[in-house]
Amino acid sequence: PSTGLLDARQRQLQDLRISVTDRCNFRCVYCMPKELFGRDYQFLERSELLTFEEIERIARVSVGLGVRKLRLTGGEPLLRRGIEDLVSKLAALRTPDGERVDLALTTNGSALPVKAQALREAGLQRVTISVDSLKEDRFQAINDVRFPLARVFDGIAAAEAAGLGPIKINAVIKRGVNDDEVLALAEHFRGTGHTLRFIEYMDVGTSNGWEMADVVPSAEILSTINAAHPLEPLTPSHPGETAKRWRYVDGGGEIGVISSVTGAFCGTCTRARISVEGKLFTCLFATEGTDLRALLRGGADDEALAAALTGIWNARDDRYSELRARLSIPGSPARQRIEMSYIGG
Ligand code: GTP
Ligand code: 5AD
Ligand code: SF4
Ligand code: SF4
Repeated sequence: PSTGLLDARQRQLQDLRISVTDRCNFRCVYCMPKELFGRDYQFLERSELLTFEEIERIARVSVGLGVRKLRLTGGEPLLRRGIEDLVSKLAALRTPDGERVDLALTTNGSALPVKAQALREAGLQRVTISVDSLKEDRFQAINDVRFPLARVFDGIAAAEAAGLGPIKINAVIKRGVNDDEVLALAEHFRGTGHTLRFIEYMDVGTSNGWEMADVVPSAEILSTINAAHPLEPLTPSHPGETAKRWRYVDGGGEIGVISSVTGAFCGTCTRARISVEGKLFTCLFATEGTDLRALLRGGADDEALAAALTGIWNARDDRYSELRARLSIPGSPARQRIEMSYIGG
């Protein structure tokens, strides 16, 4: 459709990713390392978080401007108290044509055994669950809180039983950490109906000490899998998709690769992000956001909010992943990037 908001690179605003908490019960070494997110780390106060009413308002106005997909993220979104209530508010939103919006949530899966059913009943359509390793010791070393893998599998089963599918499984592959498990991961999820997506390890935030040498290129992942189980490319389900999709020739289902480093997809990036405290970021790698919370708490009405969103999106020129290759020192600490646990994956 030609309606909707366009940015400076003719990209339409279509997806809103909303971070609902900066907290997480995991301390994944590549995301919230314990040295930085320790006992005395100051998470945001409740009063600093957007309320569900504020989130609903931003989402409703965004849907009015062309957003078709909402994703709840974190931190760990299921740690936000009463998350089902937010889900039901968002599930009730309708586009100007009266259609439902796609409503999804990205989680570490730990709380799904308890929450899956209630989330489904509240109107959540699907979940994406992270599984970076199938080896118990390694899985616990990555989450760094000794969280058992079996419990995440219980979460996947609970999501499936509740009808929160098709389920996507995210695996971030890091060289020397879990790159030996690419085939095992593929084989584990082959034939289950769940779509496994391999994510290239990215230089988000400044706390994970990212280096190019840590990245396992998607091409390598695909050739490893293809050698054992031949793959063929699928056409994108929609433009702007993060994952390139492939299917097993023998009918074992599909996988995806998210090549944010070796194959930037900024050219079709239709995503905006709302941080826990209500800042609007137009790129995962943005250094500054716009304080929508101040606007809302200052009494702005829906028209004023829509005007602000329109102005910000129209001016958007971000394409960090495309430029990364050309920046002299990738991951340079001189660049103050926002942590993923704050801005949401
Ligand atoms: P669906 O495929 O519609 O379910 O959404 P999605 O692909 O956005 O799902 P998900 O939230 O699981 O995103 C997968 C991962 O892709 C994220 O965790 C990020 O690592 C990465 N990602 C998502 N959006 C972007 C983006 O705009 N830029 C970059 N560089 N990476 C992104
Ligand atoms: N690079 C790539 N993916 C990451 N994630 C967290 N940090 C990074 C990173 N540095 C992933 C999580 C989860 C999703 C929300 O983002 O593992 O699957
Ligand atoms: Fe938590 Fe997800 Fe970050 Fe791991 S990657 S620490 S589960 S927010
Ligand atoms: Fe979009 Fe920024 Fe990611 Fe590029 S780097 S795809 S512009 S969020």
